[in-house]
Amino acid sequence: GCEGCTDITCVSTQQVLSQDVAKNVKTAYDRVKARGMSACLFGSSGTCCRNCNMGPCQIIDGVDDMLGICGATADTVAARNFARTVAAGSAAHTDHAREMVKGFIEAAKGEGLHQIKDVDKLKKLAADFGIVTEEREVKDIALELGEKALAEFGKQDDAPLSMLKRATPKRQALWQKLGIAPRGIDREVVEMMHRTHMGVDQEYHNLMLQASRTALSDGWGASMLSTELTDIMFGTPVPRRAIVDLGVLKLDQVNITVHGHEPLLAEALCIAAQDPEMLELAKKQGAKGINLAGVCCTGNEILMRRGIPVAGGFVQQEIVLATGAVEAMVVDVQCVMQSVAEVAKNFHTDIITTNYRAKMPGGIHIQFEEHEALNSAKQILTHAIKNFKKRGKCFIPKETKMDVVVGFSHETINTMLGGRFRASYRPLNDNIINGRIRGVAAIVGCDNFKLADDTHETIVRELLKNNILVLATGCAATSLGKAGLLNPEAARFCGDSLREVCETVGMPPVLHMGSCVDNSRILIAATEMVRQGGLGDDISDLPAIGTAPLWMSEKAVAIGQYFVASGAQVVFQNLPISGAKNFNKYLTEGLMGEVGAHWNIASEPLEIARIMIEKIEAKRDALGINK
Ligand code: SF4
Ligand code: FE2
Repeated sequence: GCEGCTDITCVSTQQVLSQDVAKNVKTAYDRVKARGMSACLFGSSGTCCRNCNMGPCQIIDGVDDMLGICGATADTVAARNFARTVAAGSAAHTDHAREMVKGFIEAAKGEGLHQIKDVDKLKKLAADFGIVTEEREVKDIALELGEKALAEFGKQDDAPLSMLKRATPKRQALWQKLGIAPRGIDREVVEMMHRTHMGVDQEYHNLMLQASRTALSDGWGASMLSTELTDIMFGTPVPRRAIVDLGVLKLDQVNITVHGHEPLLAEALCIAAQDPEMLELAKKQGAKGINLAGVCCTGNEILMRRGIPVAGGFVQQEIVLATGAVEAMVVDVQCVMQSVAEVAKNFHTDIITTNYRAKMPGGIHIQFEEHEALNSAKQILTHAIKNFKKRGKCFIPKETKMDVVVGFSHETINTMLGGRFRASYRPLNDNIINGRIRGVAAIVGCDNFKLADDTHETIVRELLKNNILVLATGCAATSLGKAGLLNPEAARFCGDSLREVCETVGMPPVLHMGSCVDNSRILIAATEMVRQGGLGDDISDLPAIGTAPLWMSEKAVAIGQYFVASGAQVVFQNLPISGAKNFNKYLTEGLMGEVGAHWNIASEPLEIARIMIEKIEAKRDALGINK
């Protein structure tokens, strides 16, 4: 439970935790309080090394006796740690993307549950891979594309990844010049792990070149492939209405929450939940139906494409269960806290793990098999449905339910702003050039327990007031949805000129672009803006900036690094680099000279917003569009 819940600003979380049903539930909020969040100084400043067995070594910058036993300096150690974080984050997106490619190949063969839905997009992507599309069956194109996409992971020659050619010519040339154009998706992670092994690369600048290449293999490789192939299979998102927050759970239905990242499972569950056999079973157990609700990025995937409600983001995964109203939480990979199994013990709820990579004590494992997706999904649903009868006392905060409009793929933004007959980014560019929209801010990534729950909202309200259009993904988008900023009515929070644009188009001032892998959509949208002309000739010229204020996972650092290496400034709330002076300066200033962008660090929400606004205005000055 929570005594007073003073640190929790989220209304639905407060409501649940103050109920009797949640009184024995321990959450991360309790653990933060108990631990006081004072972390190890060496760890949080990036200078703890345990890369070999002469250590672990705790390094103090500038103190001779506090080098590593091997002589490693604070800069080397912090850079190695940072680079490994990028590698781990990229690996997560990479493994996710690989599963999507394999699922796509099954779909192409016509063997699995899923089909090719977006043929236009299929042909566009096929062209990037040099695949002939004229006078060929969709199935053949898709199969060739699937195989070529899979080959990108294990590619061993030194040619760049196929999708890099989507970047601006200037950016591609820069990557070539710096020697950081990624070659094989798996290869870059492996090389990063090798170079950070004891006694290999001991020069922070050189380490960061490979960190950039690794991150780029994620953004312009793994993540972009995942997004594109997922769209081709499940449909490219278009704007649709939906609801978010804990109030989406239903008293009289079987509530099944889907938590994790890979949409293959979630899509199969959505299809299976409409199966008459499953509905019949639910009725037999006394339920009126089957209510699927998302958590975290899986939630975003099915929200974007199907309008399935999202119950909560990362920080609410325990709270969703503390309602006592969930029959099963079905999880796959990434961002699933081990504590959910502990919370579930208080209730009839089962945690069902579905991916051989990710099991947990207290969870029930039902392997999801893509080649028999429907059967697997039914097996999982059957288990959940049978729990309904065991449901005891529960509490669903009914009033906390927020309307959202979601589904802003870069294709949608194109047609929405450009109109049906003239789909292009021209109107967006024109609005930026004439100053009605000052610039574009991407607010992405996780939420965590370090800053208040309303951090995203605070930042975004400030940006909107200053006429900056906001793009959102991941759990950041979920929290903005809960705050009421993902619907057209939120235009009233904008400065006059942005409000006018939003009202004319009928769009929300914050555009939900999808899950964390969908940050690749932002790369494409930004490149498209450059291509339209009038805003410089590379992403680094755009009045645009990104932030992941409440980052918690390593994936967020990989995303930050691929944004920076693509020329986009980012602001993070903190990074474990403060114990290494030169390296810190390099990340927060020095990178600018090389890639045209760098990291920024600010701890307070309004400070983050201020930096974003300043950087956007500075780009406008440089472009000569500030009258
Ligand atoms: Fe210490 Fe060097 Fe080993 Fe790291 S690699 S633990 S700094 S001796
Ligand atoms: Fe995510």
